Amino acid sequence: MPRLVVVSNRVAIPDPEGPRQAGGLAVAVNAALKHREGLWFGWSGEISDEGANNRPKIIERRQRSFVTIDLSPTDHQEYYNGFANRVLWPILHYRVDLAEFTAVDLGGYLRVNGRFADALSGFIRPDDWIWVHDYHLLPLARELRARGHDNPIGFFLHIPCPPPDILMALPQHAETLGTLGHYDLVGAQTEHDAENLRHYFERQGASFNRNRTSFDIDGRRVQLRAFPVAIATRVYARTARSAIRSDFANEVRDSLAGRRLILGVDRLDYSKGITHRIQGFSQFLEVYPEWRQHVTFLQVTPKSRIEVPEYADINHTVNTLIGEVNGRFGVPAWTPIRYVNRAYSRASLAALYRMAAVGLVTPLRDGMNLVAKEYVAAQNPENPGVLVLSQFAGAAEELDGALLVNPHEPEAIAAAIDGALKMPLAERQARHRRMYRHLAANDIDRWAERFLAALAESRQPVTLFDNLRQLFQVRVGK
Ligand code: G6P
Repeated sequence: MPRLVVVSNRVAIPDPEGPRQAGGLAVAVNAALKHREGLWFGWSGEISDEGANNRPKIIERRQRSFVTIDLSPTDHQEYYNGFANRVLWPILHYRVDLAEFTAVDLGGYLRVNGRFADALSGFIRPDDWIWVHDYHLLPLARELRARGHDNPIGFFLHIPCPPPDILMALPQHAETLGTLGHYDLVGAQTEHDAENLRHYFERQGASFNRNRTSFDIDGRRVQLRAFPVAIATRVYARTARSAIRSDFANEVRDSLAGRRLILGVDRLDYSKGITHRIQGFSQFLEVYPEWRQHVTFLQVTPKSRIEVPEYADINHTVNTLIGEVNGRFGVPAWTPIRYVNRAYSRASLAALYRMAAVGLVTPLRDGMNLVAKEYVAAQNPENPGVLVLSQFAGAAEELDGALLVNPHEPEAIAAAIDGALKMPLAERQARHRRMYRHLAANDIDRWAERFLAALAESRQPVTLFDNLRQLFQVRVGK
């Protein structure tokens, strides 16, 4: 098996005891590297005056190498805070209204991608496979090719991909999104996202094969498919089973004093719909007063990207709204919403998921949302909780046992919470069983295998047999 070189902006060095790194990417990549010889390259998380000119730091752990570089204050500002998180992030989450484009930030983004390629170059062996992750590094394949690396290079987009009319609001999109045409394989979270990206490339002059799984552009061939990201389902279920007996879990359970727990777990981000969720919860207390004092809504929300102004705004809005709801419905012996900004270990989160009668996962837009999958995996199959899930999370394409809601409709969130709390045991079990089976059969190992098999395939010469097979598949409507 060739060595796998993974590249992403963040690098999470495994530490089961420590707080987990926010966001689904770290979880997925860590698991993908589990059974392989690998190298994970990215930003150290440090900002230093020398930036990428500092020597890369190398850490060896569990037969894997973690290689990281620093960013200079300017690089960090323009590439990470600027273009990645004030332009690409909002636009790819359908929020063109929040995008703040500057040519300087775009320049910084392209420059840092070049620096990543410079620093990584010396570590790449000719037979490595390279797997690049997420929107920070769209042009990395072009940069690596320009430095003479002919390795198979795949790209996976962890966040949503909107239709071309939205994508094309991105100034000079050919310089960023368009450079995805330098990869051998591009993966999206859902078929819906993949199809949006196909439409974009069609508008850029790409021609697709018959079953639309690959396209030719500027003399290159690129595979483009959906690979819904997953979790280590059985491992997570085991973690939850033992974590529920921990001191942490007992303390939380005691503090609930018999009240049913409604749980939200999200990075503090406007795409997560936290304000809409609080409004939905407020509506729930208003319309179903019989639940007052019988439920506790715990929202766990680690902060990230705090230097980006839109994140300071959402922080303020969420704090204010929670204060209003607690002020309005709370009584001396009961606070409706508990809000914590800490990140918790995987085990602690698993315990909270298992304890929660309702998992509220209601993003306005989300690539996949692994919290939804973890919530299902963590449940006690004998007495499972109910997942309330936004129709705009990628996970909604798979989790058909969830109560799907439109997060823009507080009345719908309120009714779903009530429905979840009242749902009979047999129905809860049946819904959970269906979803758990799906997650066990489609776990993170399978995700990585499917992606890497497709990457290997992307380098196979196309034979007459392949063409015939494809033609046959299209004819029989596969
Ligand atoms: C999302 C993104 C990841 C990112 C994570 C945390 O999951 O897809 O690429 O790492 O959020 O965001 P941060 O800006 O703190 O890395």
